[in-house]
Amino acid sequence: MRSVLVTGSSGLIGSEVAAHFASLGWKVHGVDNNQRAVFFGPAGDTRWNQQRLSRTLPAFEHHELDIRDRAGVLELVASLKPGAIVHAAAQPSHDRAAAIPFDDFDTNAGGTLNLLEAARRACPESPFVHMSTNKVYGDRPNTIALQQLETRWDYADPAYAHGIAEDLPIDHSMHSLFGASKVAADVMVQEYGRYFGMPTCCLRGGCLTGPSHSGVELHGFLSYLVKCNVEEREYRVYGYQGKQVRDNIHSLDVARFIQAFVDAPRSAEVYNLGGGKDNSCSILEAFAMAERVTGKPQRYAYVEQARAGDHICYYSDLRKMTTHYPQWGITKSLETTVAEIVEAWTRQTHA
Ligand SMILES: NC(=O)c1ccc[n+]([C@@H]2O[C@H](COP(=O)([O-])OP(=O)(O)OC[C@H]3O[C@@H](n4cnc5c(N)ncnc54)[C@H](O)[C@@H]3O)[C@@H](O)[C@H]2O)c1
Repeated sequence: MRSVLVTGSSGLIGSEVAAHFASLGWKVHGVDNNQRAVFFGPAGDTRWNQQRLSRTLPAFEHHELDIRDRAGVLELVASLKPGAIVHAAAQPSHDRAAAIPFDDFDTNAGGTLNLLEAARRACPESPFVHMSTNKVYGDRPNTIALQQLETRWDYADPAYAHGIAEDLPIDHSMHSLFGASKVAADVMVQEYGRYFGMPTCCLRGGCLTGPSHSGVELHGFLSYLVKCNVEEREYRVYGYQGKQVRDNIHSLDVARFIQAFVDAPRSAEVYNLGGGKDNSCSILEAFAMAERVTGKPQRYAYVEQARAGDHICYYSDLRKMTTHYPQWGITKSLETTVAEIVEAWTRQTHA
């Protein structure tokens, strides 16, 4: 039986990857220590998701471990020698990082190095998939010429008609401390591929979303926005008239891409992983979508000051992914995803 080690297994992506690989007959070792509750307070607690996996997946085994614990990570990976590693544990918030720079860097950069080195020593042939972020590009996407439409910003430069590709430079721009710690990890993952020849890849995520996200104001845009709508709470919009655009990809489509890479790995690859233009929306458009599903008006307040380093318009160019892995494609539309998130929050609210 092949085994996969998934870090951040109680989070949105980790839990989806765990369920997906278990459904394909893999043994799944999950690593998580509910650090999300430390980063974001009780609303970020992921124990419910860990318990769901343990209850529903016989092939799932939870390991309570902090990825900053170097000796612990080396020991676990040496003992398991997994056939693949999917690294989805992180301090994931752009805004939260400034208040906790040591925790942010030690988790995102140090934790990733611990896992890479553990993999090199124990299982260098095993595919290593790292969840990176589009914040590695800093605010450089904001230098692309834009046009303001009725409900959203869009690229005015035809060179970006398909979105942002992987060759956009990553330096000389503002990243937030989170973006910087993720750059360190991203470059290190590429280096273990190039320098040591390991089968690594970085997935530079746009907005990754789905019903298993414990969305909070500081992380998990669509999940949190829908939660506010369902609970009739006020959502705060920061700048750009609420027309800032994100591309959204359901966590299942993320897990399916990871599976495609693990089945046919390459070395030192980088992919921009998002919903692409078809699954993009502005905040105003997301409000309208949530309202259509719930029938409830979205309450919101507008704050003039934009978030530092925030993207005005970002959607991923998916052509490299679909060229390398033609069997992969988006299967969940944005409307379907919003409906699933509404359903999940409604269930949790009434639980
Ligand atoms: N969700 C998004 O919109 C998005 C966008 C771009 C990139 N990403 C990246 O994808 C990855 C997964 O994101 P997510 O949305 O699933 O996040 P998440 O917060 O839902 O899940 C991360 C999990 O990692 C765990 N964790 C954090 N620090 C840990 C530590 N030191 N040791 C062990 N476990 C720890 C948390 O408890 C949590 O369960 C992250 O690397 C994130 O930066 C996410």
